[in-house]
Amino acid sequence: MTMQDKQAWSGRFAEPVAELVKRYTASVDFDKRLALVDIQGSLAHAQMLASCDIISTQDLKDIQRGLAQIENEILAGQFEWQLDLEDVHLNIEKRLTTLVGDAGKRLHTGRSRNDQVATDVRLYLRHSIDDLILLVKALQAALLDLAQHHTHTVMPGFTHLQVAQPVSFAHHLMAYFEMLKRDGERLADCRKRVNRLPLGAAALAGTSYPIKREYVAELLDFEGVCENSLDAVSDRDFAIEFAAVGSLIMTHLSRLSEELILWMSPRFGFIDIADRFCTGSSIMPQKKNPDVPELVRGKTGRVNGNLVALLTLMKGQPLAYNKDNQEDKEPLFDTIDTLTQTLRIYADMMGGITVKPEAMRSAAFQGYATATDLADYLVKKGLPFRDAHEAVALAVRFAVGRSCDLSELKLEELQQFSGLISDDIYAVLTLEGSLAARNHIGGTAPQQVEAAIARARKSLT
Ligand code: ARG
Repeated sequence: MTMQDKQAWSGRFAEPVAELVKRYTASVDFDKRLALVDIQGSLAHAQMLASCDIISTQDLKDIQRGLAQIENEILAGQFEWQLDLEDVHLNIEKRLTTLVGDAGKRLHTGRSRNDQVATDVRLYLRHSIDDLILLVKALQAALLDLAQHHTHTVMPGFTHLQVAQPVSFAHHLMAYFEMLKRDGERLADCRKRVNRLPLGAAALAGTSYPIKREYVAELLDFEGVCENSLDAVSDRDFAIEFAAVGSLIMTHLSRLSEELILWMSPRFGFIDIADRFCTGSSIMPQKKNPDVPELVRGKTGRVNGNLVALLTLMKGQPLAYNKDNQEDKEPLFDTIDTLTQTLRIYADMMGGITVKPEAMRSAAFQGYATATDLADYLVKKGLPFRDAHEAVALAVRFAVGRSCDLSELKLEELQQFSGLISDDIYAVLTLEGSLAARNHIGGTAPQQVEAAIARARKSLT
């Protein structure tokens, strides 16, 4: 072993690591994404070391100068990443030492890659969460923009994918607004637990140098320090939690995607999605496929997979740090990337939706969507609900036989099912009457949905 291929840790080894093993254990190909936060963490660590007189002011200056140059090299795409140097941390440290000599070698005083990597991942994830919160809001705003034109657009609401009761298209969209609102809250809540500083835990037990962890936390804008060194270097629960939030976001968007796909199918014909979000078929000239929502639905699988990967990664690990944790990065990055792209494209796509109110209306009209309104009408005239239900079921059966809607039956025909019915029933049986009747918070009455949209707008500012 020559001095050149010496690893930072190779002093106690009698032979170099096998080539295959080197490639197997190296993480630089994917953890170089952490480079800028790694530098950020190192700068704060070095500043603390100097302020505690653990390194000299001159060392600090050298480290700052070296890291600034490295940052420039990385941003310019000129940094030479070496697989031999294993990971992002050792690549940067080695370059720093080349640039500034002994000061570079002193940077790692009182620190281990174990607390260093945990800090980097938290810093990186914190930035990502902040970006994602904005993207969730942008999608919520796009939903509002669409919803506000459709508080009077009637569509069938479904249960069991059977026509159930009329709702407005706006009301339907606002259901997704609510889901995303909770998703945003979950991101913000998860951020609190991400935002704790592991540095100072060193390898696992803390360090013998007189360090000031709170000072580093302050410099890096962490809300506080991780209070147990073993926990600080080993647990990735914050990443798992984030992955779970990511799975829920994707799950919500997957459900909306499923609906967009159905609604765009000619069998429904409720909406059209702008051409720029669709593709054609290479064999069937007539096809226009909703590829984007289909892919969102599909990518939900990989994001759920990332969550399971992280949970599984953690479950068998004894305290404290184990190399298993190096495997946290790819699933985490993949979840961040998938969420970022999906949320971005989704906000655009919602702006490119054409609504076809006539098709929605006629679907609501065909499905006996106002049957519950007839039952409620009878109850208000004194019939017990169960009896009303039975009477209306018979009326629906009759109307099915005639291939018509309840509102198309003559008064005498309706009266066969209950003598309580009089000609004021026709106002009740309209789609508009049905919507307007659900006039309480959370209901589909246009007035309520307009108020919900107004509240929602306010919540976004
Ligand atoms: N690349 C490693 C990781 O991602 C850094 C920490 C390595 N620590 C160690 N003791 N080998 O977890």
